[in-house]
Parts: sequence; C-alpha cells; structure tokens
Amino acid sequence: MRKLVAAGNWKMNTDLKSAAALAEALAQKVQQESSIEVVLCPPFPYLTTVKEKISGSSIKLGAQNCYHEAEGAFTGETSVGMLQDTGCDWVILGHSERRHVMGETDEDINKKVVAALDKGLGVILCVGELLEERQADKTNDVLETQMKGGLQGISAEGLKNVIIAYEPVWAIGTGVTATTEEAESAHDFLRKWLSTNYNADAAESMQILYGGSVKPDNAADLMSQPNVDGALVGGASLKADSFGGIIDAAIQVSKG
Ligand code: 13P
Repeated sequence: MRKLVAAGNWKMNTDLKSAAALAEALAQKVQQESSIEVVLCPPFPYLTTVKEKISGSSIKLGAQNCYHEAEGAFTGETSVGMLQDTGCDWVILGHSERRHVMGETDEDINKKVVAALDKGLGVILCVGELLEERQADKTNDVLETQMKGGLQGISAEGLKNVIIAYEPVWAIGTGVTATTEEAESAHDFLRKWLSTNYNADAAESMQILYGGSVKPDNAADLMSQPNVDGALVGGASLKADSFGGIIDAAIQVSKG
C-alpha cells in the first residue's frame, strides 16, 4: 500500500520569520501522524531553521535543487552532502521552473538524480508537459522523454528512493488544476511506463504525486484517484491553514 504524500514546495517564498512560523505551525498540526508523509521544501537559507522547528514531528525536510558535483569551485551551487548536513531527506529535481526558467536539460537533471541517489538522498523527480505540448497531443511523449532522460542509469533498487511528481506546466500557479481524469490518465501512463521499463513491483510501489494548483478543496478528489499518491503543492503550501487542509484531505483519503 502506497502512503499518500503531502509535499510543500515553498519555491523562492517566505522570509526567516515566516518560514520558522509556518514550520512550527505545521509541526504542531502533524505531530507524529504516520498515516501519510509530509515533506517541507523551504529555500536553502531556511533549511536548518525549518529542520529545528519540525524536529519531534514526523515531517521530513526537502530541498528544491542540488548540484551533481560533491565539492569544489562551483560558485553558488549546493552539494548533496551539504543538504544532508542540514537534515534533508529529499530533494526536488527537474521542477518545471528549473527546466523552463533556468534551462536545465534532462541530462543536467539526470546527473543530479544520480548524485543524490548515490548518497542516499531521496529524489522527488518532476515531469510535466507545457500547454502547447498537451494541445498538440504530445503529453505522453514529453513524459516518456523526461522519465527516460531523468532516470537514465537508475536501477529498480535506486527507484525505491524516488518519488515522481506529475506537474503539468499549464496548471502550475495558474489556478487551473488538471481534472481528476487528466491527472489520473497521466499518472496511469507514468505507472505503466515504470512497469514496462523496470518491473511491476517497482511500478506498484512508487508514489506518483500530482502538482499544479492543488488546494484544500480539490486535494481529496485528486488524491482519491487510483494512481495519484499525494500532492506537490506550491502556493497553497505557504499558509498553515491551506496546507493543513491538504494534509487533512490526505489523511482522510488514506484512512478511507
Ligand atoms: P502551485 O501549487 O502554486 O500551482 O505550484 C505547484 C508546483 O509547482 C509545486 O512544485
């Protein structure tokens, strides 16, 4: 049985004070809840503060990016080991903003995936199509390319430390959420891809999250889809009450 995940991607938002307050409020809410997994991904400078605030709760810490090299002259970059030092269990890789704003390629993303898994850091690998790709009926082709590119060289064993996040780019920060049918169809495609390219066990045990304008009032419907195993949340993860509502939805769905 796959546990539902509620992951908050804070992107380049919050300040030290609001990050600490948000983490503290969520730690108080979640406490030791173990029916679902909650992950917070704050900006780099607030990782240690957020880690302190969530210690004692079941919430896990994640970062929003990393570099593939272990150390050296790479000004401005952050290694996997550095993230682990701050208490991260997860790193988001391949987010559409990294792909489309920063120009990361599948090859860049793959190097990071390999580096993270090599050191035992879990990867939340994001994939998703642009609006024009969906309109041109290319969604599955894009997902296939991004999965193949991002997971190049990763074994079925390595996959155990990977979560996939399907984030259609047209749904991110737009208020336009994918319908439950659109989300389920993409997730079903991704799971079948995993089954074909790895094996049925790997595909069955992997969590595939949906991201893109998830809110407390649409979270339960999305997470009730057979192949949707939780949400990667941007805007609605920045307030304790709205992310709390999504956490409640996940708990409610997981307890049936
Ligand atoms: P929004 O929830 O703001 O649409 O962002 C989704 C996202 O990009 C999460 O990684």
